[in-house]
Amino acid sequence: MRRALHTILGIESSCDETAAAVVAGRRVLSNVIASQNDLHEEYGGVVPEIASRAHAERVLPVVRAALAEAGLRLDEVDAVAVGNRPGLIGSLLVGVAAAKGLAWALGVPIIGVDHVRAHLYAPVLCCEDSLDGLLPALGLVVSGGHTSLYRVENFADPQRIGATVDDAVGEAYDKAAAILGIPFPGGPNLDRLAAAGDPGAVDLPVSRLSRESLDFSFSGLKTAILYAARGVPDREGLAKPAVALDDARRRDLAASFQSAAIAAVMLKLERAIDAVPEARSVLVGGGVSANSLLRRKLGELAARRGVCVRLCDPGLCVDNAAMIAGLGGHLLSRYQPAGDPLSLAATPTVRG
Ligand code: KG4
Ligand code: ZN
Repeated sequence: MRRALHTILGIESSCDETAAAVVAGRRVLSNVIASQNDLHEEYGGVVPEIASRAHAERVLPVVRAALAEAGLRLDEVDAVAVGNRPGLIGSLLVGVAAAKGLAWALGVPIIGVDHVRAHLYAPVLCCEDSLDGLLPALGLVVSGGHTSLYRVENFADPQRIGATVDDAVGEAYDKAAAILGIPFPGGPNLDRLAAAGDPGAVDLPVSRLSRESLDFSFSGLKTAILYAARGVPDREGLAKPAVALDDARRRDLAASFQSAAIAAVMLKLERAIDAVPEARSVLVGGGVSANSLLRRKLGELAARRGVCVRLCDPGLCVDNAAMIAGLGGHLLSRYQPAGDPLSLAATPTVRG
Protein backbone atom coordinates (compact mmCIF):
# COMPACT_ATOMS: atom_id res chain seq x y z
CA MET A 1 0.00 0.00 0.00
CA ARG A 2 1.29 3.47 -0.90
CA ARG A 3 2.28 5.71 2.03
CA ALA A 4 0.44 9.04 2.34
CA LEU A 5 3.74 10.92 2.39
CA HIS A 6 5.65 10.35 -0.84
CA THR A 7 9.29 9.33 -0.58
CA ILE A 8 11.00 11.01 -3.51
CA LEU A 9 14.40 10.30 -5.03
CA GLY A 10 15.72 13.54 -6.54
CA ILE A 11 18.46 13.88 -9.15
CA GLU A 12 20.20 17.14 -10.12
CA SER A 13 22.81 17.53 -12.87
CA SER A 14 22.08 20.89 -14.53
CA CYS A 15 25.59 22.35 -14.25
CA ASP A 16 28.67 21.02 -12.47
CA GLU A 17 27.31 19.30 -9.37
CA THR A 18 26.10 15.71 -9.60
CA ALA A 19 23.57 15.36 -6.81
CA ALA A 20 21.00 12.92 -5.47
CA ALA A 21 18.76 13.13 -2.42
CA VAL A 22 15.83 11.45 -0.75
CA VAL A 23 13.06 13.64 0.67
CA ALA A 24 9.79 12.62 2.35
CA GLY A 25 7.40 15.55 2.53
CA ARG A 26 9.63 18.31 3.89
CA ARG A 27 12.02 15.93 5.64
CA VAL A 28 15.43 15.64 3.94
CA LEU A 29 16.53 12.04 4.52
CA SER A 30 19.76 12.42 2.52
CA ASN A 31 21.47 15.03 0.38
CA VAL A 32 24.59 13.90 -1.52
CA ILE A 33 26.54 16.28 -3.78
CA ALA A 34 29.58 15.29 -5.85
CA SER A 35 31.28 18.57 -6.70
CA GLN A 36 33.31 18.88 -9.91
CA ASN A 37 35.31 21.90 -8.72
CA ASP A 38 38.60 19.98 -9.02
CA LEU A 39 37.88 19.16 -12.69
CA HIS A 40 37.11 22.73 -13.76
CA GLU A 41 39.62 24.58 -11.58
CA GLU A 42 42.43 24.71 -14.14
CA TYR A 43 40.07 26.28 -16.73
CA GLY A 44 38.73 28.90 -14.28
CA GLY A 45 35.11 28.00 -15.14
CA VAL A 46 32.79 25.11 -15.99
CA VAL A 47 33.69 23.24 -19.22
CA PRO A 48 30.38 21.75 -20.45
CA GLU A 49 31.84 18.62 -22.08
CA ILE A 50 33.90 17.76 -18.99
CA ALA A 51 30.83 18.38 -16.80
CA SER A 52 28.57 15.98 -18.73
CA ARG A 53 31.18 13.21 -18.81
CA ALA A 54 31.69 13.53 -15.06
CA HIS A 55 27.91 13.41 -14.49
CA ALA A 56 27.73 10.19 -16.50
CA GLU A 57 30.41 8.59 -14.32
CA ARG A 58 28.99 9.83 -11.02
CA VAL A 59 25.22 9.82 -11.28
CA LEU A 60 24.56 6.19 -10.25
CA PRO A 61 27.15 6.12 -7.42
CA VAL A 62 25.61 9.34 -6.10
CA VAL A 63 22.09 7.83 -6.26
CA ARG A 64 23.35 4.74 -4.39
CA ALA A 65 24.99 6.95 -1.75
CA ALA A 66 21.78 8.98 -1.28
CA LEU A 67 19.69 5.81 -0.81
CA ALA A 68 22.26 4.36 1.62
CA GLU A 69 22.34 7.58 3.65
CA ALA A 70 18.52 7.56 3.81
CA GLY A 71 18.55 3.87 4.80
CA LEU A 72 16.24 2.95 1.93
CA ARG A 73 16.23 0.45 -0.94
CA LEU A 74 15.54 1.67 -4.46
CA ASP A 75 12.18 -0.15 -4.50
CA GLU A 76 11.03 1.91 -1.49
CA VAL A 77 11.02 5.10 -3.57
CA ASP A 78 7.54 6.35 -4.59
CA ALA A 79 8.63 8.64 -7.44
CA VAL A 80 11.73 10.06 -9.11
CA ALA A 81 12.12 13.83 -9.50
CA VAL A 82 14.76 15.29 -11.79
CA GLY A 83 15.90 18.82 -12.61
CA ASN A 84 15.07 18.95 -16.32
CA ARG A 85 15.41 22.71 -16.97
CA PRO A 86 17.19 25.12 -17.33
CA GLY A 87 20.90 24.29 -17.54
CA LEU A 88 23.69 22.96 -19.74
CA ILE A 89 21.97 20.60 -22.13
CA GLY A 90 24.66 17.89 -22.03
CA SER A 91 24.59 17.95 -18.22
CA LEU A 92 20.78 17.95 -17.96
CA LEU A 93 20.51 15.00 -20.35
CA VAL A 94 22.60 12.77 -18.07
CA GLY A 95 20.37 13.32 -15.02
CA VAL A 96 17.18 13.10 -17.06
CA ALA A 97 18.27 9.84 -18.74
CA ALA A 98 19.22 8.31 -15.38
CA ALA A 99 15.92 9.38 -13.80
CA LYS A 100 13.90 8.05 -16.73
CA GLY A 101 15.68 4.70 -16.61
CA LEU A 102 15.15 4.35 -12.86
CA ALA A 103 11.49 5.46 -12.92
CA TRP A 104 10.69 3.15 -15.83
CA ALA A 105 12.45 0.16 -14.28
CA LEU A 106 10.76 0.75 -10.90
CA GLY A 107 7.35 1.48 -12.42
CA VAL A 108 7.04 4.75 -10.48
CA PRO A 109 6.12 8.26 -11.70
CA ILE A 110 8.74 10.76 -12.86
CA ILE A 111 8.46 14.49 -12.17
CA GLY A 112 10.41 17.06 -14.20
CA VAL A 113 11.40 19.93 -11.88
CA ASP A 114 12.45 23.46 -12.87
CA HIS A 115 15.83 24.15 -11.26
CA VAL A 116 15.14 27.84 -10.54
CA ARG A 117 11.77 27.07 -8.93
CA ALA A 118 13.53 24.41 -6.85
CA HIS A 119 15.96 27.08 -5.55
CA LEU A 120 12.85 29.08 -4.54
CA TYR A 121 11.40 26.06 -2.73
CA ALA A 122 14.65 25.16 -0.90
CA PRO A 123 14.06 27.55 2.08
CA VAL A 124 10.75 25.75 2.69
CA LEU A 125 12.76 22.59 3.46
CA CYS A 126 14.78 24.53 6.04
CA CYS A 127 11.95 25.97 8.13
CA GLU A 128 8.99 24.75 10.15
CA ASP A 129 6.43 27.31 8.93
CA SER A 130 3.25 26.09 7.25
CA LEU A 131 3.00 26.86 3.53
CA ASP A 132 -0.14 28.88 4.24
CA GLY A 133 1.91 30.97 6.64
CA LEU A 134 4.59 31.64 4.01
CA LEU A 135 2.46 32.24 0.89
CA PRO A 136 2.06 34.48 -0.97
CA ALA A 137 5.79 35.06 -0.80
CA LEU A 138 8.37 37.20 -2.43
CA GLY A 139 11.09 34.96 -3.89
CA LEU A 140 14.70 35.88 -4.59
CA VAL A 141 16.98 33.50 -6.50
CA VAL A 142 20.64 34.54 -6.56
CA SER A 143 22.92 32.03 -8.26
CA GLY A 144 25.56 31.57 -10.93
CA GLY A 145 22.95 31.51 -13.70
CA HIS A 146 20.08 33.58 -12.29
CA THR A 147 19.29 36.72 -10.35
CA SER A 148 15.51 36.95 -10.25
CA LEU A 149 12.61 38.11 -8.13
CA TYR A 150 9.27 36.30 -8.03
CA ARG A 151 5.82 36.74 -6.64
CA VAL A 152 5.05 33.24 -5.38
CA GLU A 153 1.36 32.50 -4.99
CA ASN A 154 2.16 28.81 -5.39
CA PHE A 155 5.21 26.79 -6.41
CA ALA A 156 3.64 25.42 -9.60
CA ASP A 157 3.64 28.81 -11.28
CA PRO A 158 5.64 31.58 -9.58
CA GLN A 159 5.48 34.90 -11.43
CA ARG A 160 8.81 36.48 -12.30
CA ILE A 161 8.75 40.20 -11.52
CA GLY A 162 12.44 41.02 -12.03
CA ALA A 163 15.58 39.49 -13.54
CA THR A 164 19.09 40.41 -14.53
CA VAL A 165 19.44 42.18 -17.85
CA ASP A 166 23.02 40.91 -18.27
CA ASP A 167 25.13 38.83 -15.86
CA ALA A 168 23.85 36.90 -12.87
CA VAL A 169 25.27 38.03 -9.52
CA GLY A 170 27.12 34.71 -9.01
CA GLU A 171 28.62 35.02 -12.47
CA ALA A 172 29.81 38.55 -11.58
CA TYR A 173 31.38 37.15 -8.39
CA ASP A 174 33.17 34.45 -10.38
CA LYS A 175 34.43 36.97 -12.98
CA ALA A 176 35.56 39.44 -10.30
CA ALA A 177 37.41 36.61 -8.55
CA ALA A 178 39.16 35.68 -11.82
CA ILE A 179 40.15 39.35 -12.36
CA LEU A 180 41.58 39.51 -8.83
CA GLY A 181 43.41 36.19 -9.24
CA ILE A 182 41.29 34.50 -6.54
CA PRO A 183 41.19 30.71 -7.08
CA PHE A 184 38.13 28.81 -8.38
CA PRO A 185 35.40 28.55 -7.10
CA GLY A 186 35.45 32.33 -7.15
CA GLY A 187 32.28 33.32 -5.27
CA PRO A 188 32.91 31.61 -1.91
CA ASN A 189 36.64 32.40 -2.02
CA LEU A 190 36.00 36.09 -2.74
CA ASP A 191 33.46 36.16 0.10
CA ARG A 192 36.11 34.82 2.52
CA LEU A 193 38.80 37.24 1.31
CA ALA A 194 36.42 40.21 1.53
CA ALA A 195 36.06 39.69 5.28
CA ALA A 196 39.64 40.94 5.72
CA GLY A 197 39.36 43.97 3.39
CA ASP A 198 37.99 47.52 3.57
CA PRO A 199 34.62 47.75 1.75
CA GLY A 200 35.04 51.52 1.46
CA ALA A 201 38.46 51.33 -0.23
CA VAL A 202 37.09 51.80 -3.76
CA ASP A 203 33.74 53.28 -4.73
CA LEU A 204 32.18 50.79 -7.17
CA PRO A 205 28.81 51.34 -8.92
CA VAL A 206 25.55 49.97 -7.50
CA SER A 207 23.18 49.54 -10.44
CA ARG A 208 19.71 51.03 -9.99
CA LEU A 209 18.28 51.04 -13.55
CA SER A 210 15.04 53.04 -13.76
CA ARG A 211 13.37 54.31 -10.59
CA GLU A 212 10.89 51.44 -10.19
CA SER A 213 12.79 48.70 -11.96
CA LEU A 214 13.02 45.31 -10.24
CA ASP A 215 15.65 44.17 -12.75
CA PHE A 216 19.34 43.78 -12.00
CA SER A 217 22.51 44.61 -13.91
CA PHE A 218 26.05 43.57 -12.98
CA SER A 219 28.04 44.24 -16.16
CA GLY A 220 28.96 47.81 -15.10
CA LEU A 221 30.26 46.54 -11.76
CA LYS A 222 32.29 43.90 -13.56
CA THR A 223 33.93 46.50 -15.79
CA ALA A 224 34.56 48.78 -12.80
CA ILE A 225 36.37 46.04 -10.85
CA LEU A 226 38.43 45.22 -13.95
CA TYR A 227 39.54 48.85 -14.27
CA ALA A 228 40.18 49.17 -10.52
CA ALA A 229 42.38 46.07 -10.61
CA ARG A 230 44.21 46.64 -13.90
CA GLY A 231 43.79 50.33 -14.69
CA VAL A 232 41.76 52.13 -17.35
CA PRO A 233 43.07 51.37 -20.86
CA ASP A 234 44.47 54.31 -22.83
CA ARG A 235 44.02 54.85 -26.59
CA GLU A 236 46.55 52.13 -27.36
CA GLY A 237 44.66 49.77 -25.05
CA LEU A 238 47.46 49.82 -22.46
CA ALA A 239 46.48 49.97 -18.80
CA LYS A 240 48.35 50.42 -15.55
CA PRO A 241 46.62 50.09 -12.16
CA ALA A 242 46.60 53.21 -9.93
CA VAL A 243 47.51 50.95 -6.99
CA ALA A 244 49.53 47.73 -7.41
CA LEU A 245 47.44 44.57 -7.09
CA ASP A 246 49.17 43.11 -4.02
CA ASP A 247 47.46 41.02 -1.34
CA ALA A 248 46.22 44.03 0.65
CA ARG A 249 44.75 45.66 -2.47
CA ARG A 250 43.19 42.34 -3.50
CA ARG A 251 41.41 42.10 -0.11
CA ASP A 252 40.19 45.71 -0.38
CA LEU A 253 38.92 45.23 -3.93
CA ALA A 254 37.17 41.99 -2.90
CA ALA A 255 35.46 43.80 0.00
CA SER A 256 34.51 46.79 -2.21
CA PHE A 257 33.09 44.46 -4.88
CA GLN A 258 31.13 42.47 -2.32
CA SER A 259 29.70 45.64 -0.81
CA ALA A 260 28.48 46.96 -4.20
CA ALA A 261 27.15 43.60 -5.47
CA ILE A 262 25.14 42.90 -2.32
CA ALA A 263 23.91 46.50 -2.11
CA ALA A 264 22.48 46.08 -5.64
CA VAL A 265 20.67 42.88 -4.61
CA MET A 266 19.29 44.45 -1.42
CA LEU A 267 18.16 47.60 -3.23
CA LYS A 268 15.95 45.62 -5.64
CA LEU A 269 14.72 43.31 -2.91
CA GLU A 270 13.54 46.31 -0.88
CA ARG A 271 11.82 47.75 -3.94
CA ALA A 272 10.12 44.37 -4.47
CA ILE A 273 8.96 44.27 -0.84
CA ASP A 274 7.27 47.62 -1.44
CA ALA A 275 5.81 46.40 -4.75
CA VAL A 276 4.37 43.19 -3.24
CA PRO A 277 2.99 44.32 0.15
CA GLU A 278 0.79 41.21 0.46
CA ALA A 279 3.87 38.94 0.69
CA ARG A 280 3.94 37.05 3.99
CA SER A 281 7.57 36.01 3.64
CA VAL A 282 10.75 36.48 1.63
CA LEU A 283 12.19 33.18 0.40
CA VAL A 284 15.85 33.33 -0.66
CA GLY A 285 17.70 30.58 -2.54
CA GLY A 286 20.62 29.92 -4.89
CA GLY A 287 24.39 29.67 -4.39
CA VAL A 288 24.90 33.37 -3.58
CA SER A 289 22.43 33.07 -0.69
CA ALA A 290 25.35 31.38 1.13
CA ASN A 291 27.16 34.74 1.01
CA SER A 292 28.08 36.08 4.45
CA LEU A 293 27.30 39.74 3.72
CA LEU A 294 23.97 38.98 2.01
CA ARG A 295 22.89 36.83 4.97
CA ARG A 296 23.84 39.60 7.38
CA LYS A 297 21.98 42.24 5.37
CA LEU A 298 18.91 40.00 5.14
CA GLY A 299 18.98 39.56 8.92
CA GLU A 300 19.14 43.35 9.34
CA LEU A 301 16.29 43.82 6.84
CA ALA A 302 14.12 41.30 8.69
CA ALA A 303 14.68 43.15 11.96
CA ARG A 304 14.28 46.65 10.47
CA ARG A 305 11.15 46.02 8.38
CA GLY A 306 9.60 43.18 10.33
CA VAL A 307 9.58 40.85 7.32
CA CYS A 308 9.79 37.09 7.67
CA VAL A 309 12.95 36.11 5.75
CA ARG A 310 13.56 32.40 5.17
CA LEU A 311 17.03 31.30 4.06
CA CYS A 312 18.45 27.86 3.26
CA ASP A 313 20.95 25.92 5.32
CA PRO A 314 24.35 26.13 3.53
CA GLY A 315 24.00 22.68 1.89
CA LEU A 316 20.75 23.71 0.26
CA CYS A 317 21.89 27.11 -1.08
CA VAL A 318 24.12 25.70 -3.83
CA ASP A 319 22.92 23.22 -6.42
CA ASN A 320 21.54 20.12 -4.70
CA ALA A 321 18.98 17.40 -5.28
CA ALA A 322 17.06 17.82 -2.01
CA MET A 323 15.40 20.94 -3.44
CA ILE A 324 14.52 18.94 -6.59
CA ALA A 325 13.05 16.04 -4.59
CA GLY A 326 11.30 18.43 -2.18
CA LEU A 327 9.60 20.47 -4.91
CA GLY A 328 8.91 17.30 -6.93
CA GLY A 329 7.12 15.74 -3.95
CA HIS A 330 5.17 18.93 -3.30
CA LEU A 331 4.04 19.14 -6.94
CA LEU A 332 3.16 15.44 -6.98
CA SER A 333 1.00 15.64 -3.88
CA ARG A 334 -0.75 18.90 -4.87
CA TYR A 335 -0.98 18.73 -8.66
CA GLN A 336 -0.19 15.15 -9.74
CA PRO A 337 2.05 16.37 -12.60
CA ALA A 338 3.92 13.08 -13.07
CA GLY A 339 4.29 11.99 -16.65
CA ASP A 340 5.26 8.93 -18.59
CA PRO A 341 8.91 8.13 -17.74
CA LEU A 342 9.93 7.80 -21.37
CA SER A 343 8.68 11.16 -22.64
CA LEU A 344 10.24 13.68 -20.22
CA ALA A 345 12.52 16.09 -22.12
CA ALA A 346 15.53 18.14 -20.99
CA THR A 347 15.21 21.85 -21.81
CA PRO A 348 18.19 24.22 -21.55
CA THR A 349 16.25 27.49 -21.48
CA VAL A 350 14.72 29.47 -18.62
CA ARG A 351 10.95 29.89 -18.44
CA GLY A 352 9.74 33.42 -19.19
O1 KG4 B 1 22.98 27.84 -7.19
P1 KG4 B 1 24.34 27.53 -7.70
O2 KG4 B 1 25.09 26.41 -7.03
O3 KG4 B 1 24.34 27.24 -9.22
C1 KG4 B 1 23.53 27.88 -10.15
O4 KG4 B 1 22.32 27.55 -10.23
O5 KG4 B 1 24.06 28.78 -10.82
O6 KG4 B 1 25.18 28.89 -7.57
C2 KG4 B 1 26.54 28.91 -7.87
C3 KG4 B 1 27.02 30.34 -7.75
C4 KG4 B 1 28.45 30.51 -8.22
O7 KG4 B 1 28.52 31.64 -9.06
C5 KG4 B 1 29.21 30.73 -6.94
O8 KG4 B 1 30.38 31.52 -7.10
C6 KG4 B 1 28.19 31.44 -6.10
O9 KG4 B 1 26.97 30.76 -6.38
N1 KG4 B 1 28.46 31.37 -4.66
C7 KG4 B 1 28.77 32.46 -3.91
C8 KG4 B 1 29.00 31.98 -2.59
N2 KG4 B 1 28.83 30.63 -2.59
C9 KG4 B 1 28.49 30.28 -3.87
N3 KG4 B 1 28.86 33.75 -4.24
C10 KG4 B 1 29.17 34.62 -3.26
N4 KG4 B 1 29.42 34.25 -1.99
C11 KG4 B 1 29.34 32.96 -1.61
N5 KG4 B 1 29.58 32.60 -0.34
ZN1 ZN C 1 21.36 26.47 -9.18
